[in-house]
Amino acid sequence: MDEEAIAAAKRRAAESAVEAVGDGNIVGLGTGSTAAHAIQALGEAVDAGLSVEGVPTSCQSRALAREAGVPLIALADVARVDVAIDGADETLLDGSALIKGGGAAHAREKVVDTAADRFLLVVDKRKLTETLTAPLPVEVLPDARSAVAARVEELGGDPTLRAAERKDGPVVTDNGNFVLDCAFGAIGSPTRLAAELAAVPGVVEHGLFVGLADEIHAGGPDGVRVTRR
Ligand code: A5P
Repeated sequence: MDEEAIAAAKRRAAESAVEAVGDGNIVGLGTGSTAAHAIQALGEAVDAGLSVEGVPTSCQSRALAREAGVPLIALADVARVDVAIDGADETLLDGSALIKGGGAAHAREKVVDTAADRFLLVVDKRKLTETLTAPLPVEVLPDARSAVAARVEELGGDPTLRAAERKDGPVVTDNGNFVLDCAFGAIGSPTRLAAELAAVPGVVEHGLFVGLADEIHAGGPDGVRVTRR
């Protein structure tokens, strides 16, 4: 798929998921280019009369939602969410495990996606894989970066502090932390690695989402395939 076809596939996947949003729902608003299509489509549904409250997962999704006219409620004020719509950097075909955090928003995304009765994953088909191999983003307390990096190496990973673009130094997340992109090669057991990383002091959140997605809306050139778990 060329760039235009990829954008169209993302949009189709996002629009397919937004069709599942019901009147009165609290909706988790993911971060990234695919989730941005969902926020846009949700805004159009609101224009057409749908009543929802969106929970943003980042400064970016909050700004997009405001622009699209989606009424917002802060994550701090929400204990549960009806439906979350969110993208991924890579996902197993059955959605049982996926990698997020390419936009460094995975900590809040995981809170929202976990709090959701239904988490609808929206991806273009290039994100589907039989084995997770993408570098795994790990958000860390800034002062813990060296200690966490050492532990990641013990676990078989190769950590790289994510550098900012158009700013000298590291990326600083919306939560004021740093991100280590950790290359593990093929991740044999996402469940085990998720537990091991969660146990490291100084790790705020890692980007492995295990057992969270309820539906995968995978967009391609010919339409959207919806898989329910
Ligand atoms: C944000 O931190 C990420 O978790 C994104 O959801 C993920 O990187 C997918 O983004 P795209 O839809 O832009 O590929």
